[in-house]
Amino acid sequence: MIDTLDGKKILIIIGGGIAAYKCLDLIRRLKDRGVKIQSILTKGGEQFVTPLAVSSLTERKVYQDLFSLNDEAEMGHIKLSRDNELILVAPATADLMAKMATGIADNLATTTLLASTKPIMIAPTMNSQMWDHPATQHNLTVLKERGTLVISPAAGDLACGEVGTGRLAEVENIIEEIESFFLSNSNLALQGKKITITAGPTHEAIDPVRYIVNHSSGKQGYAIAEALYREGAEITLISGPTNLNVSLGIKKVNVISAREMMSATEKSLPADVVICVAAVTDWYIKNRAVQKIKKQKEGLPSLELSENPDILKTIATHKSNRPPLVIGFAAESENLIEYAKEKLNSKRCDWIVANDISGEVMGGENNQVHIITSKLAEKWPDMKKTDVAVKLTKKIVYFFKEK
Ligand SMILES: Cc1cc2nc3c(=O)[nH]c(=O)nc-3n(C[C@H](O)[C@H](O)[C@H](O)COP(=O)(O)O)c2cc1C
Repeated sequence: MIDTLDGKKILIIIGGGIAAYKCLDLIRRLKDRGVKIQSILTKGGEQFVTPLAVSSLTERKVYQDLFSLNDEAEMGHIKLSRDNELILVAPATADLMAKMATGIADNLATTTLLASTKPIMIAPTMNSQMWDHPATQHNLTVLKERGTLVISPAAGDLACGEVGTGRLAEVENIIEEIESFFLSNSNLALQGKKITITAGPTHEAIDPVRYIVNHSSGKQGYAIAEALYREGAEITLISGPTNLNVSLGIKKVNVISAREMMSATEKSLPADVVICVAAVTDWYIKNRAVQKIKKQKEGLPSLELSENPDILKTIATHKSNRPPLVIGFAAESENLIEYAKEKLNSKRCDWIVANDISGEVMGGENNQVHIITSKLAEKWPDMKKTDVAVKLTKKIVYFFKEK
């Protein structure tokens, strides 16, 4: 799977804040994702992390001094400011923000920032009084107006012992912001496409404590949402109860029952593609009890079932908002192809992704699927659910190219 961050070039400027140590973790994680990192350590930054730690992690020289003959001969502040696709200042101290806002260029970091023609992203961190100070807030406004991307500091316990806004954003949030930046700036194949995906199981309540459910983990649907998101699509993920997380840029709508899933899916229209991956429970309990059903001395409680809405068919036959591409999933334990073809015709959808659930598909990491359309039946090899997601994404990209 191609990582959005793979091969990207980022210059990280590490300022003199107590949170500078978190930058080491940030660098390590970005490196793991294939990012090529150059770094500048300010005089303040040097007080909190060592140049050796930074250069060991970036596997490159860390630049520190504007007037160093070696640094200038090797890279030079102008080259440093131009050679990268993004400049990230983290931690961005009050001092650095003030210098950036007023255009001061008195060291390598500030001179590089002033000379830069590339997008600049800052992750401020400081004591909450420093953050709230009108001077800092004014500098923040100036920087934002100039197009500087700001990863807002979080609220909570601060290193100085006070509580307030000023904590460096969590490393994973900084990475997500960087990822969103690259996603929105690249020419991705599904940019501008709106895609709805349903995923996970639905729960149908018997009473306030009991419900009917199935073994769906949501992994396949979530993997598809992520793969399409990486191609720039605007994703709405309508999910039944699962314990999975998704990228911040994906709009997630949590639902419990099939009827809730139906109304959330309709609400997400118009869409360019709807993919119904969720394992929707076929029935709901018509005589759902308001209070917990007590164990009866004689006999068993009787549950009256009623049919749930057919989400796939409703979307595929939608009168006003039928998406150009509607894809359904069919989990079958026998006669896979035959049942999948029947489903394709009866639901009026465009493609069926059929999987044989006689193995460990539900909850497992792998999936072996067939793609059934009105023209063909393709068998894909057994592979990771994330790889199925990437292959399906490629097919969707191709569908729009051919249109
Ligand atoms: C222990 C300690 C922690 C500090 N933490 C911060 C901080 O989190 N944010 C900040 O803006 N300044 C902080 N400062 C003050 C900066 O280090 C100081 O303003 C320095 O000049 C900033 O250097 P820079 O411009 O290289 O970032 C701290 C100072 C000390 C002594």
